[in-house]
Amino acid sequence: MEKRQAGQFAIEQSATPVPAAEREAMVANPGFGKYLTDHMATIRYSAEKGWHDARIGPRENLSLNPSTMVLHYAGEIFEGMKTYRHPDGGAALFRPDANARRFNNSAARLAMAQIPEELFVESVRELARIDQAWIPSEGDGSLYMRPFMIGTEVAIGNHPSDSFLYAVIASPVGSYFKGGVSGVSVWVSEDFTRAAPGGTGAAKCGGNYAAALAAQAEAAKQGCEQVVFLDAVERRWIEELAGMNVFFVFEDGTLQTPPLTGTILPGVTRDSLIQLARDKGMTVHETPYAIDEWRRDIASGKLVEVFACGTAAVVAPISQIKGQGFDLKIGDGGMAPVTADLRKSLTDIQFGRADDPHGWVDRIS
Ligand code: COI
Repeated sequence: MEKRQAGQFAIEQSATPVPAAEREAMVANPGFGKYLTDHMATIRYSAEKGWHDARIGPRENLSLNPSTMVLHYAGEIFEGMKTYRHPDGGAALFRPDANARRFNNSAARLAMAQIPEELFVESVRELARIDQAWIPSEGDGSLYMRPFMIGTEVAIGNHPSDSFLYAVIASPVGSYFKGGVSGVSVWVSEDFTRAAPGGTGAAKCGGNYAAALAAQAEAAKQGCEQVVFLDAVERRWIEELAGMNVFFVFEDGTLQTPPLTGTILPGVTRDSLIQLARDKGMTVHETPYAIDEWRRDIASGKLVEVFACGTAAVVAPISQIKGQGFDLKIGDGGMAPVTADLRKSLTDIQFGRADDPHGWVDRIS
C-alpha cells in the first residue's frame, strides 16, 4: 500500500478500506458515532524522546498492558471537532486552533504532556484529508473528528504518566439527538453535580463525562434526553448539560449563558455563538442564571427560548424542563426564531455557504 511523508506525518494507506458501496451506505445514514473511517492518526510521547512517531495509518485496535495508567487513574482527555463538506466539493475544519488550545489546557489540568498546537492541527487535517470520502455531503452531516490522549506509563502507583499516546479517529455523523432539530427535554439534577470549584470542570476529560452518566441515567428515567447540572456550592446556578453548554433567550431579545468560572467547559460553539450574536447587535450576558429564575421566567413569559449547543449537538432547542415537583414547557417544541437564526448563521459559515468574517474556516481541500 502507498506510503509517503506529509510534513511530520508518515502516511500509510489502509490495505483493507471499507468497500465503496458499504462506505457510501454508512455515510448516507450515519447516525452518531456508529461508524469509524479507515484510518487514524497516532503520535507517541515519552519523557526521553518528546513527541515522535507521528503517523496516519490504518485504523487498528490498541493493545495495552493491563497496568497502563489510563486504565486505573483515568488520565484521558479528548476533543470534538468536525470536517464539513463545502459547496465546491472541498472540505474544511472549523476553528481547529481553538480545539488545540483547549486540548492543551485540559492536558495541563490533568498533568499530561503539552502537544505543539501545529502538530495537533496537522494530525486532524491529515486524517480528514485521507478519509475525505467519508465526509457526508447531504443535509447537516459532517465528519466528526475525535482527538484524544491517554497516559501510557505502565505503573500501579499514581503519579503523572511519563508517556502518552495521542490519537485521532473520525466518524461520519448526522444529528446528535434522535429527534433531529426538534426540542430536547432536560431534567434538572438535584442529587448530582458535575464539577466543583478547583476541579476538572473546564477540562475536556473522560472523567467528567463518566461522572455525568448516573445523572444522565436519572434524566432518562424521568423521560428526559439530557441532564442539567447546577453548581456544586449553592445548588442553584445553572452550569451546563452533560456534554453541551446552554443559552437563554429573553423576550427583549437579549441572550444569557452561564459564565466560564472554571467549572464549565469553554465550548468552541458557545464562543462562536456569542460572537455571532454580538455581530448581529444582540446583547449577550455571560452571567449566572438560577434555577428559580428559570422557572419564574418561563411562568411569566420573560424567557422565550432556551437552547443547548456543542460541536456534536450544534444548536438544539430545549422545549421541556423537568425537576423535582415541576414540569415546564418552553415554546411549541420546535426551533424558535433566535435559536434558528443563530444555528443558521453558524452552520452557514461551517459549511462554506456564507462569508467567514472571523477567519474560522480552515480548508483542508
Ligand atoms: C462534542 O460536542 O463534541 C462532545 O464532545 C460531546 C459528546 C457528548 C459527544
